[in-house]
Amino acid sequence: MNIHSLLAFLQAQAANLPERKIADIFKPLASPGESEKQVALLTFAITGAIFVVVGGLIVYTIVRFRSRPGDDLHQEPPQVYGSNQIEVAWTVIPILIVFVLIGVTARVVAGVQNASPPKTTTHVTVIGHQWWWEVEYPDYHIRTANEVHVPFSPDGAQATYFVLQSIDVAHSFWIPQLSGKMDAIPNRDNYFWMNPKAPGYYYGNCAEYCGTQHANMQLRLVAESPEDFKRWTLNQQAKAADAAEGKAVFESLSCVNCHAVQGTTAIGKFGPDLTHLMSRREIGSGVVENNHKNLRAWVNDPQEIKPGCLMPSFKLTDRELDQVVAYLETLK
Ligand code: CUA
Repeated sequence: MNIHSLLAFLQAQAANLPERKIADIFKPLASPGESEKQVALLTFAITGAIFVVVGGLIVYTIVRFRSRPGDDLHQEPPQVYGSNQIEVAWTVIPILIVFVLIGVTARVVAGVQNASPPKTTTHVTVIGHQWWWEVEYPDYHIRTANEVHVPFSPDGAQATYFVLQSIDVAHSFWIPQLSGKMDAIPNRDNYFWMNPKAPGYYYGNCAEYCGTQHANMQLRLVAESPEDFKRWTLNQQAKAADAAEGKAVFESLSCVNCHAVQGTTAIGKFGPDLTHLMSRREIGSGVVENNHKNLRAWVNDPQEIKPGCLMPSFKLTDRELDQVVAYLETLK
């Protein structure tokens, strides 16, 4: 299979994946999300019952003891001083409720954290940056950004283990339909895992305020069959296609200070790796779709699209802009 038919195949696969834009935590599609949903439902049930009891008593009291025509407004109501039964009840019952919730939550947290990995494990390191995600696959020597590809299996046998890090401030990794949030903190490794049970293009986001473009620090998780995942890794491992003219222009510009393209002189690590830029559906960490118009607008002036992002406008001429974009478009 040559690279072009492979790409056509990959794109067709990507097009077939169900979009999971509405990230409903009550329709989890991975084991951690499923156990977390149970705790959420139990908590809702208990707090819902408390709401009904307390709200009911308030309504009853308001109706039953409202002032009526003919009441003597100066008469004091009966004064009640202390009742051991009531005081014991409203101290002991809330304590029991709190301990039940603590116990159940702790059990689920420990259950998720200590779960033994299913037999097939993919390792991914995700590094938070202001405001995008660096994604590394140490076993495959792949470095990409913002779009995490993982294999899925309906029985949950395909798990992905994440190491979360941050290069600058605290971020939080969250794909709501698969698992709870996990912080990405500087100088610290956090670990968690998920095993998607359905294919999809899952929407996620940074869930910890991290600066101006926090809301546009979006995240995509592509859960695909193990065979498609394997094909994706092979494509990502390939060096960039050599497109002579555009490449020389690209290498001569300051793009290379921050971006890497494997197989060229561009080895910057400050911004996303661009080696397979065109394999990603979106640019700017989910801010716009990756198409010619948006890519050109982005290279021209990223601040128009994502104000405050750390890439400045390099004031390229129209000709340079066309050459650079044409080159970037070869990076499949
Ligand atoms: Cu990164 Cu919010």
